[in-house]
Amino acid sequence: MAAQKSAPARVSNGQTNGMKRKRQDGPKQNNPLQNKKIKLLESRKKLPIWSRQQDIKAALEKNDVLVLSGETGSGKSTQLPQFLLESKWCSKCVAVTQPRRVAAISLARRVAEEMGTPLGKSSPASKVGYSVRFDDSTSPSTRIKYLTEGMLLQEMLRDSAMSQYSCVVVDEVHERSVNVDLILGFLKGLVKGINKKRKTPLKVVVMSATADVAGIARFFDEPMPSDKASGTDGDEEDDLNEAKINGDAPKRPVASPKPVSTCHVEGRQYPVKLSYLDRPTDDVLQTAFERIFKIHCKEPMPGDILVFLTGQETIQSLQKLIEEYAVNLTADYPKLLVLPLFAALPQHAQQRIFQSAPPNTRKVILSTNIAETSVTVPGVRFVVDTGKAKIKQFRNRLALDSLLIKPISRSSADQRKGRAGREAPGQCYRLYTQEGYNSLEKNATPEILRCDLSAAVLTMKARGVPDPLSFPFLTPPPRDAMEKALLQLLQLSALAEDGSISVTGKAIARLPLTPTLGRVILSSARSDPPCLRETIDIVACLSVENIFVNVETEETREQAADARGQLYRRSGDHMTLLAAVQAYAAENSDRKAWAERHLISHRAMQSVMDVRKQLRAQCLQAKLLPSGSSFSDGDDEGVSSADEELTERILKAFLSGFANNIARLCPDGSYKTFVGNQTVSIHPSSVLFGRKVEALVYNEFVYTNKAYARGVSAIQLKWLEDLFT
Ligand code: CDP
Repeated sequence: MAAQKSAPARVSNGQTNGMKRKRQDGPKQNNPLQNKKIKLLESRKKLPIWSRQQDIKAALEKNDVLVLSGETGSGKSTQLPQFLLESKWCSKCVAVTQPRRVAAISLARRVAEEMGTPLGKSSPASKVGYSVRFDDSTSPSTRIKYLTEGMLLQEMLRDSAMSQYSCVVVDEVHERSVNVDLILGFLKGLVKGINKKRKTPLKVVVMSATADVAGIARFFDEPMPSDKASGTDGDEEDDLNEAKINGDAPKRPVASPKPVSTCHVEGRQYPVKLSYLDRPTDDVLQTAFERIFKIHCKEPMPGDILVFLTGQETIQSLQKLIEEYAVNLTADYPKLLVLPLFAALPQHAQQRIFQSAPPNTRKVILSTNIAETSVTVPGVRFVVDTGKAKIKQFRNRLALDSLLIKPISRSSADQRKGRAGREAPGQCYRLYTQEGYNSLEKNATPEILRCDLSAAVLTMKARGVPDPLSFPFLTPPPRDAMEKALLQLLQLSALAEDGSISVTGKAIARLPLTPTLGRVILSSARSDPPCLRETIDIVACLSVENIFVNVETEETREQAADARGQLYRRSGDHMTLLAAVQAYAAENSDRKAWAERHLISHRAMQSVMDVRKQLRAQCLQAKLLPSGSSFSDGDDEGVSSADEELTERILKAFLSGFANNIARLCPDGSYKTFVGNQTVSIHPSSVLFGRKVEALVYNEFVYTNKAYARGVSAIQLKWLEDLFT
């Protein structure tokens, strides 16, 4: 880009603009959107980043890349994109990536309010939108688009030049998801001028609460490891190949990329008093429960309580305990409003944490590490930290990812503590000892060093990276993990023997699913006759929170079995899920009452219906159905339990994706995995619990007190011969 002297300070963000518009709009003075915008401007001006906007704009006038660090709550995610819109070079849209859906949606909502514009697709004049898996809420006039990292990668597959954007902001980079590492590699290629389709350079901002700013700046400064590594589209590859054949140096754009700026924004943090346990606890849920009521009943300071837990199950158990106990509190105490927060929770339930509690009520938010940096929960003065999180980890012996409960890092513990002091002085209770804290790792290991990389490698292949081993990674993953991913993709037929992406691979890469589930969908479309619509229903269930309301004890398990009896299928959990979805969809009168009667989560079922609608649309678009066919309304009359032939076709489709998740029955009555020969038990939540069948396919391997297979169905060993010989 030609260096332009920055225009004499254009309007200071929002204010003058707003006044100008008010005068022009005359009669619209009572517009509630504008009123809210004016009100919010006061709080925006108090954010630490506000006074740095000229520095930020100047840095991006000068350089193409800015690495910005700043404490959570300093205003990075909400303000910076608005500052950018005022820059001359910013004529198109600004993309802002988020690791989580909840953050993308709530940020878009907040920024739309701050800009006085309707949100997303609700109006063609909307300036702010979001795009998350299964929910695109943008319009042609969108100028700021919050989107999950996965969605940006999908967009990159369709348009490698990112031509609709002037700037991509990569937020929350300290979380170091595999997707963020891929995005950084692709963006590095773009700013280094590899992609010649861009007429103007793409600006890139990388933001983080804690990250190693110098390391990221160095990454963007260093030359590309190999010209071809960062991914080009077909045309460009042809250019490069042609140049090689002719012995010429490949053509490059003339403008050399400009160096990287860095900037730090001081946070706004009130003091937080810290306390540890004297001795480690062996029942952290009970300790958390006691701590919450001690705060509620004994602490004179007002304010909400934020509790960090590991996942949906622990959150729901603690919620039940608190609610049962709270009904016995006398009227001397304020009421308690318990709100869960985890990734699989549907959007409208997640949004409740942002609303203030009714009068004389204290909110208790039970959250996974979502609330650590991604989401700012207003009103929090107390933090209770259990010191654990559920993390994904690749288990070599099993050749698959498992979710394991692990101690968090010191930097995560410090982020959690900080959440108590955003609006006023606060208090943080760590449910571990000071020695425990000292023994934690300093920073979490990036996901790319501990996870299955098959989705990442497929994305690279689909984007034209011929050799993923030489991709510009911020932290290069171990070579054997990359090789395993390549092998897994070969097994799924996503790659051809020569390592190039196959037609199947391209189709899988376009689906918003893991390569395994993508392969299942394709197999179901290709089976004879196809069983795509049934498989979509099951895959939709696997993509949301558990549809079955938790049943923890023997007694509740029996109650659930009675209530859900007619939905249970002998073949196992896959067909049971299908029966549940179809019965729910066929219910025309009162779906909520139906769900309650069957101890099924209505909330989860609503999400399932949403996801299945989107998947159906995507499969139609990808022409996975024979031409002329469609998904009709009469699809939901239900599957009969006797339909063994359909069951076989569906489970064979699952086997094509989950070939590594098979266990067989041994003479001693235990199940052993095919890969790794490890003993595994059927999870108590499965309809097959306690049954002995010849062999199993399972969705997930979980390790709690012992190894469990979850999401299990019975298969016949001879099916494997049909499939794999
Ligand atoms: O990105 P960073 O953590 O630096 O801050 P931010 O997300 O831009 O948040 C700045 C402030 O905006 C927060 O402290 C909240 O007061 C407000 N905010 C909000 O009310 N609702 C949101 N969804 C996001 C932010």
